[in-house]
Amino acid sequence: MLFFNLFTFLLSIPTTTTQSVHTPKPPPLPVLPIPSSPQLTWQQTELSLFLHFGPNTFTDTEWGTGRAHPSIFNPTNLDARQWVRVAKDSGFSKLILTAKHHDGFCLWPSEYTNYSVKGSPWRGGAGDVVAELAVAAREMGVGLGIYLSPWDRHEECYGKSVEYNEFYIGQMTELLTRYGEIKEVWLDGAKGEGEKDMKYFFDCWFNLIHQLQPGAVIFSDAGPDTRWVGDETGSSSSTCWSLFNRSAAVIGGTDSEYSGGGDPSGLDWVPAECDVSIRPGWFWHASQRPKSALTLLDIYYKSAGRNCLLLLNVPPNSSGLISDEDIQVLKEFADMRQSIFSHNLARNATVTASSIRGGVSDAQYSACNVLEEGIYTYWAPEENQVNWVIYLDLRASVSFNVLQVQEPIHMGQRVVKFHLDVLMKNGNWTTVTNGTTVGYRRLLQFPEVESHSLRFVVDQSRADPLISYLGIHLDSFSVVNGSSNSCSAPLVNSKLQTRVYNQFRNASVWNLFEIATKNIISYISKQLFEV
Ligand SMILES: *[C@@H]1O[C@H](CO)[C@@H](O)[C@H](O)[C@H]1NC(C)=O
Ligand SMILES: *[C@@H]1O[C@H](CO)[C@@H](O)[C@H](O)[C@H]1NC(C)=O
Ligand SMILES: *[C@@H]1O[C@H](CO)[C@@H](O)[C@H](O)[C@H]1NC(C)=O
Ligand SMILES: *[C@@H]1O[C@H](CO)[C@@H](O)[C@H](O)[C@H]1NC(C)=O
Ligand SMILES: *[C@@H]1O[C@H](CO)[C@@H](O)[C@H](O)[C@H]1NC(C)=O
Ligand SMILES: *[C@@H]1O[C@H](CO)[C@@H](O)[C@H](O)[C@H]1NC(C)=O
Ligand SMILES: *[C@@H]1O[C@H](CO)[C@@H](O)[C@H](O)[C@H]1NC(C)=O
Ligand SMILES: *[C@@H]1O[C@H](CO)[C@@H](O)[C@H](O)[C@H]1NC(C)=O
Repeated sequence: MLFFNLFTFLLSIPTTTTQSVHTPKPPPLPVLPIPSSPQLTWQQTELSLFLHFGPNTFTDTEWGTGRAHPSIFNPTNLDARQWVRVAKDSGFSKLILTAKHHDGFCLWPSEYTNYSVKGSPWRGGAGDVVAELAVAAREMGVGLGIYLSPWDRHEECYGKSVEYNEFYIGQMTELLTRYGEIKEVWLDGAKGEGEKDMKYFFDCWFNLIHQLQPGAVIFSDAGPDTRWVGDETGSSSSTCWSLFNRSAAVIGGTDSEYSGGGDPSGLDWVPAECDVSIRPGWFWHASQRPKSALTLLDIYYKSAGRNCLLLLNVPPNSSGLISDEDIQVLKEFADMRQSIFSHNLARNATVTASSIRGGVSDAQYSACNVLEEGIYTYWAPEENQVNWVIYLDLRASVSFNVLQVQEPIHMGQRVVKFHLDVLMKNGNWTTVTNGTTVGYRRLLQFPEVESHSLRFVVDQSRADPLISYLGIHLDSFSVVNGSSNSCSAPLVNSKLQTRVYNQFRNASVWNLFEIATKNIISYISKQLFEV
C-alpha cells in the first residue's frame, strides 16, 4: 500500500511541474514615486465638499478681523446632518470644515481660547459644531476633514513664534484627538499684508498630524500629501502630474504653473487638489447666488477629469443650513454626471491589444480588463514594445463625445501622451482627441463622433503603460467648441495669469478671489476698449 502511494506520488510530480509553467507572470515593477495608502484613498474620494462657516457668515464678510463679538455666531437652525446628507446625495464622500478661519473664532470649544462657540448664544454656549458634524458624518459614512487657519487675527500671542506654534499645536491636537477619524487636514500659508512676522513650524505640525491621524492626508501649497493646484477656479493644467518636487515648493509662495501641472521628473507623489466655491464668496452672503450646474460640470472635467480632487465649497447660511438654491444646483450637477458617466458606451465591446504581458493566455493583463470598473485590474503590454494600442470593436455604431481613461496609479503615473482614433465610414482612421497625462482619471471632450471601431494609442510613456479603464460617453449638456478641449485654453490668458500670480505671491490664499475678480474685470474692460 505504502509502495503504491509512493508510486502515485512520484507520478504526480511531473503534473505539478507542468502546472508551475502556467504560474502567472508577476506584475511589472512600480515606477516611483507611488502614492501612500492614505493618498490612494484620498484620490479615490474624487469629490469633497468644503464648508466655510463662522462669524463671517453673520457679518457678511470674507475675512473677519477677529474683533467680531462671539455673540454674533447664532445659527438658529444648525443641522450638521443636513450638510452631510447634501454631500452624500450629490456624490461627495468627504466634508472639510473651517474649524477656525483667519478671524480665530473656533467652531469647537477649545481650551486655549474663549474666542469660540463657548462665548456664543448658540446651544447656550455648550455647542460644538465640529462634534455635531463628526457624529453626522460617521453615521452616514462620509469622511471628515478640518481646516485650521495658521493665521489668527484674534489670538494675542500671534507673532511670537514659539508661543503661537504651541498654541496652534494645542488646538490641532484637540481637533485630531476628540472627533474620531480625520481624513484630511487642510492648511495654507496665508498671512495678511503687513501682518506680524512669525514662523510657522510646518515640519513639527506635519509630523504631529501624521502621528495622531495616520490615515489623514495633509494639504498645503507644498504637500506633503496633496498640493494646492495654484488657483481657485477649480481647474488644473490639461497636463497634470501627481509627481512633484516638494523641495521646489514654498508654502505661501506658490508657483501656479508648477503646481498646476506637476513635474514629470518629480521625486515626490503629491497630487493636486482644486478648491473652488459654488458661490462668488467662500462664506455665505444673502446677495450671492450659486454657479449653474453646467458650470460645475465644466469644473468637474477640468479637475476630477484631470487627475485632481475637486474640493467644492458650499457655505452653510446664517440659519446653519445649506441653502435650497445650492442644493438644487448640486442635484442637477449629480444628475448630469450620472446621466453621462453611468453608461460606458463601450461596455459590450470586444477588446484586443497590440500585445499582452505574459502572452494572450495570461488573463491577468488582458485588454478586456479596461472595461472593468476600478484601477486594480488593468491591461499591461508585453515588455520592450514600440507600439501600445488597445482596439475596441463596439459591434454597432455608437455616438459619443467624451473619452474616459484611468491608470492604475498604485503602480505609478506613466502615460505621457496618447490619442484616440476612430474608424470612419470611408474606412480611414481619424484622430478625435489627444492629450498629455492620464493619472487616476482623465476625461476629454470633443465634438460628437459616430463609429463602431476605436483604437486608443499611447504615444509616449515613462515606462510600459498600464491602462485600467477606458470609457466612451455621450454628454448632451456641455457645449463643446471646435477641436479644443484636450488642450483647452485656460479661462484667463497667460499674461494675466502671471500678473495675478505675482500679486498673489505675498497675499493670502483667501485674497486671491478678490485679486482674480479685479483682474478679470480689468481684463474684460481692457479688451472691450482695445477692440
Ligand atoms: C476663559 O474665560 C474664563 C472665564 O472668564 C477664564 O477663567 C479663562 O481664563 C479664560 N480662558 C482663556 C484661555 O482665555
Ligand atoms: C525635480 O527633481 C528632479 C530630480 O532631482 C529634477 O530632475 C527636476 O529638474 C526637478 N524639477 C524641478 C522643477 O526642480
Ligand atoms: C438657509 O437654508 C434653508 C434651506 O436649507 C432655508 O430654509 C433658510 O431660509 C435659509 N436661511 C437663510 C437666512 O437664507
Ligand atoms: C450591452 O449588452 C446588454 C445585453 O445584451 C444590453 O442590454 C445593453 O444595452 C448593451 N449596452 C450597450 C452600451 O451596448
Ligand atoms: C483615406 O486616407 C488616405 C491616406 O491618408 C487618403 O489618400 C484617402 O483620400 C482617404 N480616403 C478618404 C475617402 O478620405
Ligand atoms: C494634439 O493634436 C493637435 C492637432 O493635431 C496637435 O497640435 C497637438 O500637438 C496634439 N497634442 C498632443 C499632446 O499630441
Ligand atoms: C469657439 O472657437 C472659435 C475658434 O477658436 C472662437 O472664435 C469662438 O469664440 C469660440 N466660441 C466660444 C463660445 O467659445
Ligand atoms: C513679497 O515678499 C518678498 C519676500 O517676502 C519681498 O521681497 C517682496 O518685496 C514682496 N513683494 C511685494 C510686492 O510686496
